[in-house]
Amino acid sequence: MTSLRKYLTLNSGRRIPTVGLGTFLMKNDVLREALDYALYIGYRHIDTALSYGNEVEIGDVVASRIKDGTVKRADLFITTKIPPIYLDYQDCLQSAEKSLDNLKLKYVDMLLIHHPCGNPNRGDGNFKPLDENGEREIVSYDILRTWKAMEKLVGENQTVHIGLSNCQPTVINKIWKAAKIKPSNLQLECHAYLQQKELGKLCTERGIIMTSYGALGAITRPNQSGNKPVLLDDLVIKEIASRINRTPGEVLLNYVAQLNRGILPKSQTKIRLKQNIEVLDWCLSKEDIKLIQTLDRNVKYFDFPWAKNHPDYVPNQPF
Ligand SMILES: NC(=O)c1ccc[n+]([C@@H]2O[C@H](COP(=O)([O-])OP(=O)(O)OC[C@H]3O[C@@H](n4cnc5c(N)ncnc54)[C@H](OP(=O)(O)O)[C@@H]3O)[C@@H](O)[C@H]2O)c1
Repeated sequence: MTSLRKYLTLNSGRRIPTVGLGTFLMKNDVLREALDYALYIGYRHIDTALSYGNEVEIGDVVASRIKDGTVKRADLFITTKIPPIYLDYQDCLQSAEKSLDNLKLKYVDMLLIHHPCGNPNRGDGNFKPLDENGEREIVSYDILRTWKAMEKLVGENQTVHIGLSNCQPTVINKIWKAAKIKPSNLQLECHAYLQQKELGKLCTERGIIMTSYGALGAITRPNQSGNKPVLLDDLVIKEIASRINRTPGEVLLNYVAQLNRGILPKSQTKIRLKQNIEVLDWCLSKEDIKLIQTLDRNVKYFDFPWAKNHPDYVPNQPF
């Protein structure tokens, strides 16, 4: 094998590009320039969310590049997400409508439930409502009703596919059993220190494509306790990278992609945007893959502490 798969096949038979441009924390002109360059060098998959507050910029760039013929809408794969404050049936429908309006699109390719643990909708658009103690306020929604709304959005051609993010096996199975339209994607944290074997197996059994965020080790995530190892500084990764003349970031991305999982590296730096999409043009040796397999150690950088108190959170299950 000399290169990795450029696309993964979803349960609809349609394809999702293996590499997507992550856009969390990118906004305004930085995002416009990065996305414009990304489209120019061949990115066709863009990952956003209503809560990232950057759908408008993405919509502007996409519209202008469709207009000037740089890309065709049919060749793009655009993912957005329903935030935890909008998991009520009607709110879910309106959230999707708002995203489409922001993105200036008739449909998205993938709509995900961003997190199954709900927060209350106060009607003020605050994605992180707090209670009187300053803690994230939590509320439980009937996730099967939310899924019904997701299915309705497919029926109305507002999204081609629907899927999940940050979900544990219990909720995945619950939705799976009840669904008329099965989830086709699970987006979650996955990297060399958190290889998500259990969820990987479940996804394979269910025909769900797994997409990894944080494949580089969630560099932008504040390591609040300061006791989590920095993945990009891992000595095994650094040794492999220097031996094969790649960067540690390239090694980490290539590792996750060779598991047939999608990757969503965010970059606003041209050289890394290019490296990150070219990561499919080569592959690690079997020996190096085995070495990286041994690094799995249950380090979760996005641990969503607020969700741990949620009635819908299941202790001791991965997500
Ligand atoms: N579903 C969810 O709950 C969820 C949660 C988190 C993230 N996501 C999605 O996943 C995407 C990725 O998120 P992430 O937070 O894990 O970020 P990431 O893509 O792992 O890391 C981004 C950081 O890594 C740097 N970087 C990019 N390429 C690199 C490389 N090859 N080597 C070294 N450093 C590199 C970037 O700097 P430069 O910009 O300067 O290159 C940036 O500081 C997000 O943008 C979002 O779309 C989803």
